[in-house]
Amino acid sequence: MTTIEGSVVLVTGGSRGIGRALVSALYERGAKKVYATARDPRTVTHPDAVPLALEVSDEASVAAAAEQAQDVTLLINNAGASVKASFLDAPVEDVRREFETNFYGPLLVTRAFVPIIERNGGGHILNVHSVLSWLGIAGSYSASKAALWSQTNSLRLELKPRGIEVTGLHVGYVDTDLTAKIDAPKVTPESVAVQALDGIESGAYEVLADDLTRQVKAGLAADLAALYPQLAA
Ligand SMILES: NC(=O)c1ccc[n+]([C@@H]2O[C@H](COP(=O)([O-])OP(=O)(O)OC[C@H]3O[C@@H](n4cnc5c(N)ncnc54)[C@H](OP(=O)(O)O)[C@@H]3O)[C@@H](O)[C@H]2O)c1
Repeated sequence: MTTIEGSVVLVTGGSRGIGRALVSALYERGAKKVYATARDPRTVTHPDAVPLALEVSDEASVAAAAEQAQDVTLLINNAGASVKASFLDAPVEDVRREFETNFYGPLLVTRAFVPIIERNGGGHILNVHSVLSWLGIAGSYSASKAALWSQTNSLRLELKPRGIEVTGLHVGYVDTDLTAKIDAPKVTPESVAVQALDGIESGAYEVLADDLTRQVKAGLAADLAALYPQLAA
């Protein structure tokens, strides 16, 4: 079981939104050190965090971050972007970019940090998915988060014998820059961070951090028409 107190954590996208809330919540629970990454590390404002530059889709940038964070025991793959490219109308390059950030990015970071976490005696990885991993209403964003969910499920099996636990976080609308243009009820990044850390500490395979996510997950076994009322229109 993972204990946050005394752990050394790396949070990708730790300068704002859910990532910044995670950095604060980790220190509140007694983490020894938290690396917070951003493409521009000067945007990391938490006074105790160790800022690191990271572009998750760039292998050299991932390698450089890993080189500087050799003491990590807990990795949080939080960085993500929402292009929501339409499969029919958007340039296919936008679809690829969404996968580079949301699927290949966490994969590159995980591959770089697994040997480090192993050398440090084992630990934990949290991947930030979405309710949209289970609901295809946001084009390439939904697809990239569904693929990440699947990646997480496979990694959990591969990493268990190597002493690394894996948790996936699913959530609906959270009040961050990513949803600034969406007019819908939103939960706070702080509430998501608390539930995510509870999930890590209890060894949960999945954390469902709001009512919408719990409803959608519960509906997955039903007929697809129940999940997609648009089909009846
Ligand atoms: N907000 C929601 O409603 C919601 C719901 C479900 C899941 N999520 C997921 O939660 C995670 C955090 O989202 P958020 O809402 O906190 O969004 P946000 O406020 O827009 O922050 C996104 C973070 O990801 C980083 N990032 C984006 N692209 C990156 C790249 N190519 N390389 C490195 N870092 C990159 C950003 O870093 P910079 O500061 O360098 O730009 C930023 O720190 C994402 O994975 C998102 O998909 C969000």
